[in-house]
Amino acid sequence: MHISLRVNGEQHMLDVDSRTTILDALRNHLGLTGSKKGCDHGQCGACTVLINGRRINSCLTLAVMHDEDEIVTIEGIGSPEELSPMQAAFVRHDGYQCGYCTPGQICSATAVLDELEKGWPSYVTDDLEGAAQLTDDEIAERMSGNLCRCSAYPNIVDAIRDVAEKRA
Ligand code: FES
Ligand code: FES
Repeated sequence: MHISLRVNGEQHMLDVDSRTTILDALRNHLGLTGSKKGCDHGQCGACTVLINGRRINSCLTLAVMHDEDEIVTIEGIGSPEELSPMQAAFVRHDGYQCGYCTPGQICSATAVLDELEKGWPSYVTDDLEGAAQLTDDEIAERMSGNLCRCSAYPNIVDAIRDVAEKRA
Protein backbone atom coordinates (compact mmCIF):
# COMPACT_ATOMS: atom_id res chain seq x y z
CA MET A 1 0.00 0.00 0.00
CA HIS A 2 1.19 3.50 -0.75
CA ILE A 3 1.39 5.93 2.13
CA SER A 4 2.96 9.28 2.79
CA LEU A 5 4.74 10.06 6.06
CA ARG A 6 6.33 13.29 7.15
CA VAL A 7 9.34 12.21 9.21
CA ASN A 8 11.56 14.76 10.95
CA GLY A 9 10.29 17.43 8.60
CA GLU A 10 10.81 15.46 5.38
CA GLN A 11 8.02 13.98 3.29
CA HIS A 12 8.40 10.32 2.30
CA MET A 13 6.30 8.20 -0.05
CA LEU A 14 6.40 4.54 0.98
CA ASP A 15 5.09 1.33 -0.48
CA VAL A 16 4.52 -0.91 2.54
CA ASP A 17 2.93 -4.25 3.28
CA SER A 18 -0.23 -3.58 5.32
CA ARG A 19 1.34 -5.49 8.26
CA THR A 20 4.35 -3.18 8.52
CA THR A 21 4.62 -1.32 11.81
CA ILE A 22 5.78 2.29 11.98
CA LEU A 23 8.92 1.04 13.74
CA ASP A 24 9.77 -1.27 10.84
CA ALA A 25 8.88 1.39 8.29
CA LEU A 26 11.26 3.81 10.00
CA ARG A 27 14.08 1.33 10.46
CA ASN A 28 13.79 -0.84 7.35
CA HIS A 29 12.28 1.47 4.75
CA LEU A 30 13.77 4.81 5.76
CA GLY A 31 17.03 3.66 7.40
CA LEU A 32 16.25 5.59 10.59
CA THR A 33 17.65 3.09 13.05
CA GLY A 34 17.71 5.41 16.07
CA SER A 35 14.37 4.03 17.28
CA LYS A 36 15.13 0.65 18.80
CA LYS A 37 13.22 -2.62 18.77
CA GLY A 38 13.56 -3.81 22.35
CA CYS A 39 10.58 -6.12 22.85
CA ASP A 40 8.32 -5.59 19.81
CA HIS A 41 5.40 -6.02 22.24
CA GLY A 42 4.73 -2.56 23.63
CA GLN A 43 6.44 -3.34 26.90
CA CYS A 44 9.78 -1.52 26.89
CA GLY A 45 9.37 1.88 25.22
CA ALA A 46 12.65 1.61 23.27
CA CYS A 47 10.67 2.30 20.07
CA THR A 48 8.97 5.49 21.36
CA VAL A 49 8.48 8.19 18.73
CA LEU A 50 6.23 11.22 18.55
CA ILE A 51 3.32 11.01 16.12
CA ASN A 52 1.41 14.26 15.64
CA GLY A 53 3.06 15.40 18.87
CA ARG A 54 1.98 12.43 21.00
CA ARG A 55 4.24 9.71 22.38
CA ILE A 56 3.56 6.31 20.92
CA ASN A 57 5.12 2.85 20.93
CA SER A 58 5.95 2.57 17.24
CA CYS A 59 6.13 -1.24 17.42
CA LEU A 60 2.41 -1.36 18.22
CA THR A 61 1.00 0.71 15.41
CA LEU A 62 0.73 -0.01 11.70
CA ALA A 63 2.25 2.32 9.15
CA VAL A 64 -0.94 2.32 7.05
CA MET A 65 -2.80 3.85 10.00
CA HIS A 66 -0.55 6.91 9.80
CA ASP A 67 -0.88 8.08 6.22
CA GLU A 68 -0.07 11.83 6.16
CA ASP A 69 0.95 11.85 9.81
CA GLU A 70 3.85 13.84 11.23
CA ILE A 71 6.51 11.75 12.97
CA VAL A 72 9.50 12.84 15.02
CA THR A 73 12.18 10.28 15.86
CA ILE A 74 15.34 10.66 17.92
CA GLU A 75 17.12 11.72 14.70
CA GLY A 76 14.72 14.68 14.48
CA ILE A 77 15.20 15.71 18.10
CA GLY A 78 18.89 16.49 17.74
CA SER A 79 22.06 15.38 16.02
CA PRO A 80 25.51 14.33 17.29
CA GLU A 81 26.79 17.76 16.23
CA GLU A 82 23.84 19.60 17.74
CA LEU A 83 22.39 17.79 20.74
CA SER A 84 18.98 18.86 22.00
CA PRO A 85 18.91 20.12 25.61
CA MET A 86 17.55 16.71 26.74
CA GLN A 87 20.22 14.78 24.85
CA ALA A 88 22.94 17.00 26.32
CA ALA A 89 21.48 16.51 29.82
CA PHE A 90 21.52 12.72 29.41
CA VAL A 91 25.22 12.95 28.55
CA ARG A 92 25.95 15.33 31.44
CA HIS A 93 24.12 13.17 33.97
CA ASP A 94 25.29 9.82 32.61
CA GLY A 95 21.65 8.85 31.96
CA TYR A 96 22.45 5.68 30.05
CA GLN A 97 24.67 2.67 30.27
CA CYS A 98 24.23 0.36 27.27
CA GLY A 99 22.18 3.11 25.62
CA TYR A 100 19.68 0.79 23.99
CA CYS A 101 16.68 2.36 25.69
CA THR A 102 18.09 5.88 25.39
CA PRO A 103 16.42 7.06 22.13
CA GLY A 104 13.01 6.09 23.54
CA GLN A 105 13.81 7.62 26.93
CA ILE A 106 14.85 10.91 25.32
CA CYS A 107 11.81 11.06 22.99
CA SER A 108 9.58 10.38 25.96
CA ALA A 109 11.33 12.78 28.32
CA THR A 110 11.20 15.56 25.73
CA ALA A 111 7.45 15.03 25.33
CA VAL A 112 6.90 14.78 29.10
CA LEU A 113 8.14 18.33 29.61
CA ASP A 114 5.89 19.57 26.79
CA GLU A 115 2.92 17.71 28.29
CA LEU A 116 3.59 19.29 31.69
CA GLU A 117 3.86 22.73 30.13
CA LYS A 118 0.49 22.21 28.46
CA GLY A 119 -0.93 21.26 31.87
CA TRP A 120 -1.87 17.70 30.93
CA PRO A 121 -2.46 15.70 34.13
CA SER A 122 -1.18 12.19 34.71
CA TYR A 123 -2.54 9.38 36.84
CA VAL A 124 -0.69 10.72 39.91
CA THR A 125 -1.52 14.43 39.50
CA ASP A 126 -3.49 15.50 42.61
CA ASP A 127 -4.75 18.87 41.52
CA LEU A 128 -6.44 18.54 38.14
CA GLU A 129 -7.17 22.27 38.01
CA GLY A 130 -3.66 23.63 38.69
CA ALA A 131 -0.36 23.08 36.90
CA ALA A 132 1.23 19.66 37.50
CA GLN A 133 4.46 19.86 39.49
CA LEU A 134 7.56 17.98 38.40
CA THR A 135 7.72 15.72 41.45
CA ASP A 136 9.58 12.40 41.49
CA ASP A 137 6.18 10.68 41.35
CA GLU A 138 5.19 12.63 38.24
CA ILE A 139 8.45 11.82 36.49
CA ALA A 140 8.22 8.13 37.45
CA GLU A 141 4.61 7.87 36.30
CA ARG A 142 5.10 9.75 33.06
CA MET A 143 8.27 7.79 32.20
CA SER A 144 6.85 4.45 33.33
CA GLY A 145 6.44 3.19 29.75
CA ASN A 146 10.20 3.35 29.20
CA LEU A 147 12.18 0.54 30.77
CA CYS A 148 15.96 0.52 31.19
CA ARG A 149 17.52 -2.87 31.79
CA CYS A 150 20.69 -1.20 33.09
CA SER A 151 18.63 0.75 35.63
CA ALA A 152 20.05 4.17 34.84
CA TYR A 153 16.84 5.65 36.28
CA PRO A 154 18.30 8.00 38.93
CA ASN A 155 20.47 9.68 36.32
CA ILE A 156 17.61 9.84 33.82
CA VAL A 157 15.48 11.59 36.46
CA ASP A 158 18.35 14.02 37.17
CA ALA A 159 18.64 14.80 33.44
CA ILE A 160 14.90 15.49 33.13
CA ARG A 161 14.94 17.73 36.22
CA ASP A 162 17.96 19.60 34.91
CA VAL A 163 16.24 20.44 31.59
CA ALA A 164 12.98 21.33 33.35
CA GLU A 165 14.77 23.71 35.73
CA LYS A 166 16.67 25.40 32.90
CA ARG A 167 13.40 25.88 31.00
CA ALA A 168 11.58 27.35 34.00
S1 FES B 1 9.95 -2.30 21.09
FE1 FES B 1 8.12 -1.18 21.22
S2 FES B 1 7.67 -1.16 23.34
FE2 FES B 1 9.41 -2.47 23.18
S1 FES C 1 20.88 2.17 29.19
FE1 FES C 1 20.75 0.06 28.83
S2 FES C 1 18.69 -0.42 28.73
FE2 FES C 1 18.78 1.64 29.31
